[in-house]
Amino acid sequence: MDGNGRWASRRLLPRVAGHTRGVDAVRTAVETCARRGVEYLTLFAFSSENWRRPADEVSLLMRLFVVALQREVGKLHANGIRLRVVGDMSAFEQRLQDLVREAEARTAGNTGLTLTIAANYGGRWDVLQATRQMLQDRPELASEPSLIDEAALTPYLAMAYAPEPDLFIRTGGEQRISNFLLWQLAYTELYFTDCFWPDFGEADVDQAFEFYRTRERRFGRTSAQLVDPRVSSTPADAGVSSKPG
Ligand code: IPE
Ligand code: MG
Repeated sequence: MDGNGRWASRRLLPRVAGHTRGVDAVRTAVETCARRGVEYLTLFAFSSENWRRPADEVSLLMRLFVVALQREVGKLHANGIRLRVVGDMSAFEQRLQDLVREAEARTAGNTGLTLTIAANYGGRWDVLQATRQMLQDRPELASEPSLIDEAALTPYLAMAYAPEPDLFIRTGGEQRISNFLLWQLAYTELYFTDCFWPDFGEADVDQAFEFYRTRERRFGRTSAQLVDPRVSSTPADAGVSSKPG
């Protein structure tokens, strides 16, 4: 979700006004995705690098997070939405951590859209914390590194509960991943738009979905194999074919 600050600057408003409007855009995106039957929506709200911002902007972002949780969780719950937060929560103030854990517990049994907020998250952090946890659980792997494969590591990634994303959307004009879900984006369709996040509305969500529909996802195969799955596929292909869509 990028472009809050520029959205505000264009209107001669302080950057924080852009973040406040950004929360409205989050609500719209969540509602639209839930209505369209999306099963998993993950929002990159605050990266491990965002701490480098001016202290007053960081504290405003934290306050918005707290207020949004207090105001919105009841509605999310009523709509069957399951909320998860991924990232290194230990850096956040205790009250925010408690609110997050309460909201997660309250919505844990919901079966609608799973809404994940990535907060103090970084893709490299995720791979490292997963590696550490894996080795803690299975110390024998340290002396037998050839046994470390994707299946050994992925259960420890912060979003092990979700399939890999089909579609990645970045607003605000930059064409970068910026340390989002590095591991999981390997086969994801990437969509970039100049639209600033506060302006990203229902029609923009649909436009991104339309882009996705035009993509042909081959996972390393040829187009002919997709048309007719019986067209020769080697046994080595088996691993790739089990990749989630
Ligand atoms: C994204 O908008 C919001 C957060 C990172 C929290 P920005 O704040 O990055 O907006 P720009 O890039 O300055 O316009
Ligand atoms: Mg930005």
